[in-house]
Amino acid sequence: MCGIVGYVGSQEAEPILLEGLRRLEYRGYDSAGLAVVHRGRLQVHRVAGRVQELREEVGAVSPAVVGIAHTRWATHGPPTVANAHPHVDTARRIAVVHNGILENAVQLRSRLQREGVALASDTDTEVIAHLVAEQLESGTATLEAAVRAVLQEVQGTYGLVVLDVQRPGELVVARLGSPVVLGVSEGEMFVASDVAALVHHTQQVVHLGDGELATVRAGSYRTSPIAPVAGGAGEVEASALSAQDYDLGDHPDFMHKEISEQPAAARRVLGGRLDDRFATAHLGGIRLEPRELRGIRRVTFLGCGSAYYAGQMGASLVEELARIPADAEPASEFRYRNPVVDPDTLYVAVSQSGETLDTLMAVQELQRKGGRVVGVVNAVGSAIARQCGQGIFLHAGPEVSVASTKALTNMTISFALLALLLGRVRDLSAADGRRLVSALLDLPDRIEEVLRSEPEVQAVAKQFAGARHMFFLGRVRGWPVAREGAQKLKEISYIHAEAYQASELKHGPLALIDSSMPSVVILPDDELYAKNLSTVEQIRARGGPVIVVTNADVPGDLADAVLRVPRSEPELDPVLLTIPLQLLAYHVALELGRDIDKPRNLAKSVTVE
Ligand code: BG6
Repeated sequence: MCGIVGYVGSQEAEPILLEGLRRLEYRGYDSAGLAVVHRGRLQVHRVAGRVQELREEVGAVSPAVVGIAHTRWATHGPPTVANAHPHVDTARRIAVVHNGILENAVQLRSRLQREGVALASDTDTEVIAHLVAEQLESGTATLEAAVRAVLQEVQGTYGLVVLDVQRPGELVVARLGSPVVLGVSEGEMFVASDVAALVHHTQQVVHLGDGELATVRAGSYRTSPIAPVAGGAGEVEASALSAQDYDLGDHPDFMHKEISEQPAAARRVLGGRLDDRFATAHLGGIRLEPRELRGIRRVTFLGCGSAYYAGQMGASLVEELARIPADAEPASEFRYRNPVVDPDTLYVAVSQSGETLDTLMAVQELQRKGGRVVGVVNAVGSAIARQCGQGIFLHAGPEVSVASTKALTNMTISFALLALLLGRVRDLSAADGRRLVSALLDLPDRIEEVLRSEPEVQAVAKQFAGARHMFFLGRVRGWPVAREGAQKLKEISYIHAEAYQASELKHGPLALIDSSMPSVVILPDDELYAKNLSTVEQIRARGGPVIVVTNADVPGDLADAVLRVPRSEPELDPVLLTIPLQLLAYHVALELGRDIDKPRNLAKSVTVE
């Protein structure tokens, strides 16, 4: 076993840390290290040897008053200085000491390497430092929220202490399967993996519970569940946005920033959740055993606005991959229609904010009727996340702009993971599973490719910004894409936009087509390609302008405008086909001088009736 010691207070931290390690020496180790924050920098000392060698390596004591320390008994990687804790991220902002084993360290390491992170050790622990730093860089407001979000992605056991050089007044501590105890003293706090390291400082100890996390400051500590659970007083409040979340960087507005964050957000929602060995998904936040997953006879997605349309994309994915009936319904309707709740249905409540009242009320209605519901939510600690008590966090980072983009994309990707999991406990073959896994791993790069086509989309937006109405048309997989595209245009440009199933066009809406009614047609290169192509021709035959969004090799003169996206696997194409529509709505609204992030009459999350 390894030893952990942490300190935050007003005394010099290094002697306390070294003395604590010495008292834990009996636990066996092969290397040791400590990190303190001094003059705004992390000072890290590590040796592949005994605590006494560390003491000698530290030398003259620094005046630092906060720090963490560790003695290591190697589990991942040989006992070398490079593998000794504390581990830090590339920018040396975050330091971590960890007892336990991360079971999905391999996936997380390869994901970080794909993101270009240079890993400095062979250990599992190092990934936590990088992931926490990534969370904070992506705008997560507090160290506690960043650690909690990362812990949704890791699988395994941990006794963990995290230190952020930018927050030298606190330590965040977490425990799952490996003991951690807090020592409470006047104006200072101690952390250790064993009371032995504390007892000569204080007799007031708090044994952190399994699945608990704590923020520890010199004069206080606050514990909360790692995975927010339903109800219960004194819950951690949803982390409010902090000043840095309003940091636009070099983006003109949040919507543009959040559209551009989609590749990184997609990597986060996939992190630690794909198992290419068994060609399936790991959704640690959903506590359903394989037998229970097999017992699910239907999946119903409930959400509002874009979350509802994402739910429709989710329903397609579940039907295609798991071959069980699935559908989506506006949560706002569901809650009022005295729904017939089926005990064998899995209900999925979808919400970026986790605060939309209609969706929260639908969850409560379901739970009153014995329905089984999981939450797919972005905001950790939000009401819907707590009410559901289990589910999938989106890890999109705070989404500020009213029009949902990166959260929407992460919702659809989360549903692909759920559909893959449900499929692989049924008849989806390993080969098919591997096909989806590799396509999902590839998706962030494909999203990046779509984003590079922004100038073309901007030109099309200029061409059509004068329209007073617009149709969005799609079939089957393309239908929810059309609905989301119409939603985006309505929300931020105020142009009337209507989505129709392309097959319905001839049964009425075609009457509206003339040169003043442009149509966007979603044209995936799939089994309905010819049908969608004839829809394009039907419209053009009546003088209707057409914008085609496609991954097929269509001729440039097929339509008045062609927005091209790369192919993924057919089931995942809706993720890529949606993104040009985000950019189209964005640039039309810009052309019209609209308030991009705060469109009139709307709210980011409607928490009232
Ligand atoms: C609406 C927003 O108010 O709420 C939409 O205008 C959003 O953009 C919908 O999709 C649902 O919000 P949430 O937070 O529940 O996903």
